[in-house]
Amino acid sequence: MNNNFPKLAMAKFSEQYKGQKLISMHATNPEPFSQAELEQTIGQSFESILKNVNLGFAADEGTLALRQTLATNLYDGIFADDVITHAGAQEVLFCAFHALLHPGDKVLAVAPIFEPLVQIPLNIGCGVSYVHLDSNNDWSLNLDDVEKQFSSGCRLFVINFPHNPTGATLSGVELQNIINLCRKYDVWLLSDEVFRGLEHDLTYRLPAVAAIYQKGISVGVISKAYAVPGIRVGWLVCQDKQLRDRVLDIKGYLSICNSQIDEKLASEILKAPEKLLNRNLKIIIENKRLLKDIQSISGVDIDIIIPEVGCCVFTIINPGQITSTDLVKKIAKHSNYLLYPSDLFKTDVNALRIGFGGKKFNEFVHMYKT
Ligand SMILES: Cc1ncc(COP(=O)(O)O)c(C=O)c1O
Repeated sequence: MNNNFPKLAMAKFSEQYKGQKLISMHATNPEPFSQAELEQTIGQSFESILKNVNLGFAADEGTLALRQTLATNLYDGIFADDVITHAGAQEVLFCAFHALLHPGDKVLAVAPIFEPLVQIPLNIGCGVSYVHLDSNNDWSLNLDDVEKQFSSGCRLFVINFPHNPTGATLSGVELQNIINLCRKYDVWLLSDEVFRGLEHDLTYRLPAVAAIYQKGISVGVISKAYAVPGIRVGWLVCQDKQLRDRVLDIKGYLSICNSQIDEKLASEILKAPEKLLNRNLKIIIENKRLLKDIQSISGVDIDIIIPEVGCCVFTIINPGQITSTDLVKKIAKHSNYLLYPSDLFKTDVNALRIGFGGKKFNEFVHMYKT
C-alpha cells in the first residue's frame, strides 16, 4: 500500500475510542445549529432557500452568489473574484499548500498547531520549523524568533489566530508587524482564520490577512465560527491571481466544485453572519464564566489561561503529574468524556484541549467543580 498520506495523529488517536460512545469535550466549534434553530436565526426556511435550486454542477471557483456574499459580508476590501469556495477548510489547506510549495521549501509554523497545517507541507517534502507560543506568558508569540527564522530563508509562514488549541490571539499591531516581516523577507503568509468572528469582544477582531497583504491567504469555513459543520463549505481568499489559478488546477483533482445545495444554503445563511455569531458568542460567554471553576480534573491540578477569543482552551497540567495522554485515558474510562492530549499538537507543553462552546459544557464543569 502506498504511504503518501500517513494517517493523521488526530485520526489515529480518535480511532481507539471508536464505538465507545464518549461525549466529545474537545470540539473547537460552538454547538452546531439544528435546522430549526438556524432557520429561526436567519428568518428563512431551507425549503424556501432551496426552491428552484440549480442541480447542475456549480462553477469550479464557486457560485458568484456565494463568493459575493462572502466578500461583502465577511471582509473589507475583498471582491468576489478574490474568493474560491471549497469542500471545507481542509480542502482549502490542501490546495493552497500544494499550489505554493515544492519539496525542500522551508515553512515556518506557530506551535502548538492543528496538525494538517504542518502535515500537508511535510507530506510535500518541505522542511517545517516552529515558533512556539509561550505558555508562561499568556501564549504570546515572540516576533524576534519569527525574524530569526525568516532571515535563514522561508517560503511560507503559517498562522492561526484565533488559535486552536490555546485560544490565543494577536494584537492588531503584532499582526501588522508579522506582515511587515513577511514583506521584508518576501514570505507568503497563510492565515487560518476559521475562528474569526468568535472574538469575545469585537475589539479583538483582526483584519483578514488577504485584505492587507498581497501574498496573504485567508482561510474560512462555515463549520467553525458559524457552527454549521453539516454544510460542507470553506473558502480561500487571496488577491494573487496566479495563486488562485493554481489552486483551481489542484481543486480539479479533488471536489472540482461544491454541491449547489450547500452553496445556496451557505450564501443565504452568511448574509447574516452576525446573527449566527451572536448566538454562538452567547453560549461561549456563558460557558467561559465556568472555566475558573475547574482547577483540577480527575484529581490532577491544571492551569487555565482564560481566552478572549474562540471556544477552546489548552489546560496546562501542573508539573510533575501524569502525561496528558494518560490523563485523557483516565478521564475517558472514569467519566465518559473525550478530550485531546497535547501530543496531537506538535508541542512539548503537557496539556489538554477542552472545548467550551457546547451546550453541555456546564455538565462537564459540574463533574470537576472544586
Ligand atoms: C484551525 C483549523 N483549520 C481548519 C480546520 C478544518 O475545518 P473543516 O474540517 O471544517 O474543513 C480545522 C478543523 O478542526 C481547524 O481547527
